[in-house]
Amino acid sequence: MSRTIRIFDTTLRDGEQSPGASLNVEEKIQVAHALARLRVDIIEGGFPVSSPGDFEAVARIAREVKDVTVAGLARALPKDIDACYEAVKSAESPRIHTFIATSDIHIAKKFRKTREEILDMAVEAVRRAKSKLPDVEFSCEDACRSDPDYIVKVLTAVIDAGAVTVNIPDTVGYTTPPEFLELITTIRRKVPNIDRAVISVHCHNDLGLATANSLAAILAGAGQVECTINGIGERAGNASLEEIVMTLKTRRDKFDCETRIKTQEIFRTSRLVSALTGIRVQPNKAIVGDNAFAHESGIHQDGVLKDKRTYEIMRPEDIGWTESSLVLGKHSGRHAFKTRLEEMGFHLADHELDRAFERFKKIADQKKEIYDEDLEAIIEDEVGRIPPVYTLDYVHVTSGTGAVPTATVRLKRGDQVLQESAWGDGPVDAVYNAIDLIAGMDIALLDYGIRSVSKGKDAIGEVSVKLKFKDQVVKGKGASTDIIEASAKAYINGANRLLQRLEFGPSKVSADDRV
Ligand code: KIV
Ligand code: ZN
Repeated sequence: MSRTIRIFDTTLRDGEQSPGASLNVEEKIQVAHALARLRVDIIEGGFPVSSPGDFEAVARIAREVKDVTVAGLARALPKDIDACYEAVKSAESPRIHTFIATSDIHIAKKFRKTREEILDMAVEAVRRAKSKLPDVEFSCEDACRSDPDYIVKVLTAVIDAGAVTVNIPDTVGYTTPPEFLELITTIRRKVPNIDRAVISVHCHNDLGLATANSLAAILAGAGQVECTINGIGERAGNASLEEIVMTLKTRRDKFDCETRIKTQEIFRTSRLVSALTGIRVQPNKAIVGDNAFAHESGIHQDGVLKDKRTYEIMRPEDIGWTESSLVLGKHSGRHAFKTRLEEMGFHLADHELDRAFERFKKIADQKKEIYDEDLEAIIEDEVGRIPPVYTLDYVHVTSGTGAVPTATVRLKRGDQVLQESAWGDGPVDAVYNAIDLIAGMDIALLDYGIRSVSKGKDAIGEVSVKLKFKDQVVKGKGASTDIIEASAKAYINGANRLLQRLEFGPSKVSADDRV
């Protein structure tokens, strides 16, 4: 009989651990609503004890997002479990997800404890969580490098203590499909009370096997898969939600499993996550990459024109993929603008909509055709979700062969108007030096990238930067049809993030504790 596999989305927790991907609370809420529309079963909203921002994000998701289980992550420590409970408790269906590593290398080197001590901590953590709410998940971190007999012992004990989901993470992306299938089979055979818990898996992609390993586990009887949109996550990322879901759908003949996912929402959720995290989807990414349904060779094109099934195993419309379509132009009104944004998953407050619409009108005057990608750039840039400490008022550069590149920049900070001029190695460097002078910060530019977000010579240019100040690293994005202006906006966006970080303070969890 066909089984329904639970989709546990950890885009907002493990996905947000991707280098440079940090989302603020508003952005997390937006993604959480999109995940609920996609009909994931569980949203892991964050790691509440790690920072006030993570706590607030999980608490708001718990309060505001309906028809989904909301989980928070907690180490096997009382303070983590208590914080997690406080964050998730208002959800319609709250879950505490607690974990501890079970591999000898983690036990000896990270914890300097014995297996017995770790077992006691795991049981204590699950008991404490269970005393607060019924839905408790336990994970054996680094399970794939742990002794299977020890995992069996730990799982038996935590299920007795009340865990109703037991998660087997391949934390370092080390396992292979046959090996993982065998591990899940062993767990099913040897854990005597396994019928009282759902087996979950959580695979990292260090060897590019995260999706294959997750699917092998499903074949072996796993009932929950942890995954992220676009496969983002720590290091090489996590198993990608869209790959797992579409494999189960497309190869139902092999897996005989289904999910609750509304697959038509996949594409726009993917684009929303990409726009908000600043992590681009590689063009050849399965399911959601720009080229996933593009046929370049003449033979393929000919075949597809005769019958799409010659070279397409899925229909683009099944994942809600739309040709980058002309959506709006300069005659479009506010209503059409708002409707299109909502279709794309952006729900703005009235004052944000006013700002975005004003910007849209300006761009529509310069650019005949406005695409979805342009709208994403407008939202990221104009609404930004970062309280704008500084906003760009004016930028002017002089540069050319033999000339010293110089820039004059004027920024607004509240009612203040601040202006500086500077020179640099190039026009962008000169602009950045002028902004540093205004902000009184010596910001290091770690990375700079520019791309055209839509078609045509009049396309909007989107600049992404990675900035460092003191020990904080942030990303910044800016968009404009003028690339110098886009560069300035990206830098200011990053500087505003840095100022926000410095104001709220760094994460309470040290780098060593990050999961
Ligand atoms: O990769 C991992 O082991 C994790 C756990 C905390 C589930 O992310
Ligand atoms: Zn992980």
